[in-house]
Order: sequence, then C-alpha cells, then structure tokens
Amino acid sequence: MRPIGVFDSGYGGLTVLKEFVRQMPEYDYLYLGDNARAPYGPRSFETVYRYTLECVQWLLKQDCPLVIVACNTASAKALRSIQQKDLEQMDPVARVLGVIRPTSEIIGQFTKSGHIGILATQGTVHSGSYEIEIKKEFPQLVIEQEACPMWVPLIENNEQHAEGADYFVKKHINQILQRDPEIDTLLLACTHHHENYWS
Ligand code: DGL
Repeated sequence: MRPIGVFDSGYGGLTVLKEFVRQMPEYDYLYLGDNARAPYGPRSFETVYRYTLECVQWLLKQDCPLVIVACNTASAKALRSIQQKDLEQMDPVARVLGVIRPTSEIIGQFTKSGHIGILATQGTVHSGSYEIEIKKEFPQLVIEQEACPMWVPLIENNEQHAEGADYFVKKHINQILQRDPEIDTLLLACTHHHENYWS
C-alpha cells in the first residue's frame, strides 16, 4: 500500500500522526520530521517555503499519494504556493493538505464568549493565516494571537517538564489573557504544543 506522508518541522507532528493511526489504522504512514533544520517558527517566508517544498518533494518521491503538512508554520507560509504552483509539476495527481483550514472550520464551535486566543510560532502569528481562515467561517469571532518563541525549543530539547518551562508557559498564557480577558478558548496552533508525543 502507498503510504500517506506526514511532515512536520520536527517531533511535533507525531501527535498528528498518532491521531491518524488511531482513527485510520488501515493505512500505512511515512513520517518526516525536519529536526536538522527546526525550528521553522522564526525563519523567513522564503526559507520555510524552500524547506517545506524539499520535504514534500521527498515524500512524493517515496510514492506518497497524499502528504499532510502537519506543521502550522509550514501550512501558514508554504502550503498555498505548493498547492497552486509546485504540485502540478511535481505530481499532478498527488494531494498536499495542511492543518490550518480544518482547524479554522471547527474552532467556532468551542467558544461561548466568542473570544478566542491563538498560541503559535512567530511565523504562524505574523502570517495572519489563522485570522484569515477563521474569519471566513466565523466572522463574528474576536481573535487575539500570541507568539510563543520559547515553547518549540523547549520541546525539541525534551525540556517541557523542566522547572523553567512553566515560566514560559505561564508568561504567554497570562499575556494573551491580559489583552483579552474574555477569551474562553485557546488554540494550541503548533504541533509542538500538543500532548507529550512520545508517551
Ligand atoms: N511544529 C511547527 C508548527 O506546528 C513549528 C515548530 C517550529 O518552529 O519548527 O507550527
């Protein structure tokens, strides 16, 4: 069976892979984490685009008919160009999908106050992709964003349970809640922020 490719800038996308395996165990999967070049969050649009394109290309060469860009930063900065420009030349029948659109389609179901917070990398926040996509589905929502640049390095270095990690988690949650105390829903908009992926 041809495997479904799952790509992330590092370990974070393993949470997405784990969920695929749980919900669709009948498929084979091939995971590519670009640990060598993570983090993607602080990198320029051009760099994230080039790295993501290389990784998607590699997965397509391994015969994946479908590649999931599990990384929010790569989905925000590279996915559209790859879908609209590169895929046609690389493999016109293959599909490449990201994580921002499906999340944006359901996020409005979770808030009662109508105020939501996005916790993500600098790249995802500055791209404005979540705001654009969420507003298409839920134009009435009030959206506040917070970049959390220390979270990914802590997790990539397996320091997420260390004493110092709490400081950075509290700092960003406090900051976003101070800017909008009506927020009742926080989106962990980075694969690295999800549950402990090696548990
Ligand atoms: N895992 C990526 C995401 O979901 C970003 C981590 C990184 O900065 O490389 O946004």
